[in-house]
Amino acid sequence: MNDHRHAPEGASRQANETAAGARFTTAVAHPNIALIKYWGKADPALNVPAVPSMSITLDALTTATRIRFDASLAADTISMNGSELAASSSQARRITTCLNTLRALAGTELKARVETRNDFPTGAGLASSASGFAALVVAAAGALRLELPATDASRIARAASASAARSLFGGFAELPAGAVGEDVAAMALAPAGHWPLEVVVAICAEGPKAVGSTRGMLDSAASSPFYRTWVDAAAADAAAGRHAVLQRDFAALASVSEASCLKMHAVMQTTRPPLLYWNAATMATLERLRSLQQDGAEVFFTMDAGPQVKAVCAPGTGPTVAAALAAVPGVSRVLTTALGGPARLDAAPWA
Ligand code: PMV
Repeated sequence: MNDHRHAPEGASRQANETAAGARFTTAVAHPNIALIKYWGKADPALNVPAVPSMSITLDALTTATRIRFDASLAADTISMNGSELAASSSQARRITTCLNTLRALAGTELKARVETRNDFPTGAGLASSASGFAALVVAAAGALRLELPATDASRIARAASASAARSLFGGFAELPAGAVGEDVAAMALAPAGHWPLEVVVAICAEGPKAVGSTRGMLDSAASSPFYRTWVDAAAADAAAGRHAVLQRDFAALASVSEASCLKMHAVMQTTRPPLLYWNAATMATLERLRSLQQDGAEVFFTMDAGPQVKAVCAPGTGPTVAAALAAVPGVSRVLTTALGGPARLDAAPWA
């Protein structure tokens, strides 16, 4: 559906000139949040999910990444939100590994200068790795003049961060489960215009999360007594979520999404050591949403590996929910967003 190609001529047209004359290519991508959750790996080495997931892409949160491959560079250098990453850091190594895949496809060993920034909190359960790797793959493919269908870009992004596979697509996206050695990609389920849901994000803590998803998932698989049950029920949840989206059935989507979220958190909380991502503001926000639902508001919650609550609202319901959640004790601010488009090259100058 959204299988757009990042054409070579588009890449050169959209490369920005720096003062020094070196060419950068810029891409933007939006984070997505899963309504049917991914938690668990069938193949940890290849980063293949053990469960199918389904997500919505958020318009108002954006990662912008620009990249330049340059013969004068001895190594990849990466700036994230204005700070240089140490080459030995886990973030830098993940980025270089992802770039290596694209370099191999392009038949080059040129090193890259990467600059990336988010207009929202990084590493705090707001899916910054999803938008980050989606933007990186699109920018690097453009800079290398690779004609990469979105499905192939999604597969490469998945190897770095499985949720990033979904951010290649706008609107509603699905990522299937895979088996050992299976190189799965996400796919579009429906574009944003199919059902203009609104999302209110209640920021319940600004800091980075305590335990990252990769470590957490491995610990859950090894120690949660509920992990197997979670995996076994996931296909049915994904089918119910897909059907609800295609039918625009809000009550059905709310029911299966809240259930998927709470089952994932039950697995997290029963992991050893436990993964407790919620705080007092998270609980207060859930209580407020329950009372809004009892008053008839079409809204439901979802949460990821962090304390933030994402309230998914029927079209037109966002402003009421945003006003209610902004008044919850401990919520520092709320962000309201429509559903967004796919990751793409962006001609906008890097300000
Ligand atoms: O792809 P990762 O490693 O960022 O894991 C994402 C896990 C959750 O955000 C908790 C769930 C999901 O499906 O996005």
